[in-house]
Amino acid sequence: MELNNKTILITGGTSGIGLELARQLLQRGNTVIVTGRDRQKLDATSHSLPGIHAFQSDVSDPEAIVALHDKVLERFPALDVLVNNAGIMRNLNLNRDRGLVDVQGHSVLITGFQERAADRS
Ligand SMILES: NC(=O)c1ccc[n+]([C@@H]2O[C@H](COP(=O)([O-])OP(=O)(O)OC[C@H]3O[C@@H](n4cnc5c(N)ncnc54)[C@H](OP(=O)(O)O)[C@@H]3O)[C@@H](O)[C@H]2O)c1
Repeated sequence: MELNNKTILITGGTSGIGLELARQLLQRGNTVIVTGRDRQKLDATSHSLPGIHAFQSDVSDPEAIVALHDKVLERFPALDVLVNNAGIMRNLNLNRDRGLVDVQGHSVLITGFQERAADRS
């Protein structure tokens, strides 16, 4: 896959792997959107990477994910790629039954964007 002239959303793009990915994808001429929870980190990222688009959003909050999905697609209807980079670490007892709510946040993020991608194809 050629990753240039694409519109790419990276969750957790204000430090570490996500930030470096954002920097390299911007250099290749992509439109890059990053998310994170901390406003200061988002502002620092916008300052250090001119041209990047930053949205404050928490992937552990299902409502924030829906809002992010709507805001991003309203502003960037041609979104091509989702990099689901922001991770949440939790202790789960795998010997107990677990509801779908445990994975709801990421499912909402992925299915929401997938449905939209299917509409476009
Ligand atoms: N580094 C490794 O060796 C390694 C190994 C295996 C897997 N991973 C996975 O790779 C991903 C990136 O790792 P990293 O080391 O680059 O992490 P990192 O440097 O800690 O960066 C995490 C990024 O995600 C954002 N973030 C954290 N929690 C978030 C949340 N609830 N909602 C939205 N954004 C959130 C952070 O910004 P805010 O804090 O402002 O939200 C930051 O932009 C993670 O999913 C990690 O589990 C990393």
